Amino acid sequence: MPDNDSVPTAFACRDWRPAVEALATTGWWRLPQALGAAGWQALRDEAQALHGQAAFAPARIGRAAGAQREAAVRGDELCWLTPEMPAGRCYLAWMEALRTALNRELFLGLDEFEAQYAHYPAGAFYRTHVDRHRDSSARVISAVLYLNEDWPEAAGGELVMYDAGGGELFRQAPHGGTLLLFRSEGMPHEVLPATRARWSIAGWFRTRA
Ligand code: OGA
Ligand code: MN
Repeated sequence: MPDNDSVPTAFACRDWRPAVEALATTGWWRLPQALGAAGWQALRDEAQALHGQAAFAPARIGRAAGAQREAAVRGDELCWLTPEMPAGRCYLAWMEALRTALNRELFLGLDEFEAQYAHYPAGAFYRTHVDRHRDSSARVISAVLYLNEDWPEAAGGELVMYDAGGGELFRQAPHGGTLLLFRSEGMPHEVLPATRARWSIAGWFRTRA
């Protein structure tokens, strides 16, 4: 755990209504600087400190028993956020307010939010996939927060979002503080390789179905 006193005790509350409305209509929403610099930098520092303590594990494909390491599909490393992490706890609380808004406005019946710090070493990618697992409808809404300072366009590492027919919807570079929300079902996307390390938080609002 990073030992510093610059970790905020809470992230500023947002008005989540525009995000909720966009999710209800187009199915996705993104906002640069959704989280202030002090917030996402604290998350980045925490992620990098945890990475230095070997708290990250190579990503696996699929769920539980069927999961296997598959470098041809994805090359990122992951570390679950827990309430014991000073910055991670703030992020989980920040997302909890969004979960409440989604349930209140859209009756999504979301039971929980889970999230992982993700580190893509230079050259790593994540091939086109949908976040909802084939054998479980638990994941309903995906949330990605980017944690990279001064990310040049030439560094690559964009997320590319496709519609259900495979047409490109948009690209998103992993700029620190940008938050991207999208439906976990029916929205294929991929992460392109970057020329430098890429840090983010990938999370999912879930039902216990
Ligand atoms: C994921 C994912 C996108 C990104 O972790 O499932 O698609 O831009 N991440 O990091
Ligand atoms: Mn994904």
